[in-house]
Amino acid sequence: MNNHYSFIGGPEGQWRVTRCEAIVGEPIETVPRLNVVNTPASQLSQVSTWVLQGFTSNVRYAERHEITQLRARQEGLNRTASTCAALIPIKKNAQWWALSQDERRAIFEAQSHHTEIGLAYLPEIARQLHHSRDLGEPFDFLTWFEFAPEHTDAFDALLVKLRTSEEWKYVEREIDIRLMKDNF
Ligand code: HEM
Repeated sequence: MNNHYSFIGGPEGQWRVTRCEAIVGEPIETVPRLNVVNTPASQLSQVSTWVLQGFTSNVRYAERHEITQLRARQEGLNRTASTCAALIPIKKNAQWWALSQDERRAIFEAQSHHTEIGLAYLPEIARQLHHSRDLGEPFDFLTWFEFAPEHTDAFDALLVKLRTSEEWKYVEREIDIRLMKDNF
């Protein structure tokens, strides 16, 4: 199974970049377009300004009851109406990574209610988490979201809630890249 994805910023790609904002930490170069491919960066020939890569994986924190709720509510990527997307690369600090799994879970859910908050935005927002830390990438996670234009305000409200949570105190770098799919 190939679960390895590359997010290629440059002159080409199915997504047009409408905004590229550093929320915290160092920015990345703004690019006109983004291409998302199910291929490791080492196998790419496309011209690019930058490539971020990650892989999909099993859940780390979600408990049975949460997995059940998520599966009941979530919809997949590539819906026709999802002409908007967001790529939000995130790096957490050394303090976060020094914690134990149970300490991280407590911050993630008991204190920050990440899943509980996020569930309220399903199925309008479709999401995919990519892990990058173990690849030695500049970010730990590449988070990807797709939604219809009319759900942009809801997505922004979700971000306000998450960014003011305890979990986000451990975020040392976050870039908010907004995208639109052109109509062909
Ligand atoms: C749309 C609603 C959302 C839902 C339902 C949701 C749900 C989840 C769940 C269940 C996990 C844990 C996966 C696991 O067990 O390994 C997770 C992880 C994560 N989510 Fe969300 N999420 C949502 C939105 C967001 C947004 C908007 C962001 C970024 C701004 C985000 C960033 C992350 C990150 C970085 C992780 C990995 C955390 C870590 O392992 O330290 N999520 N999310």
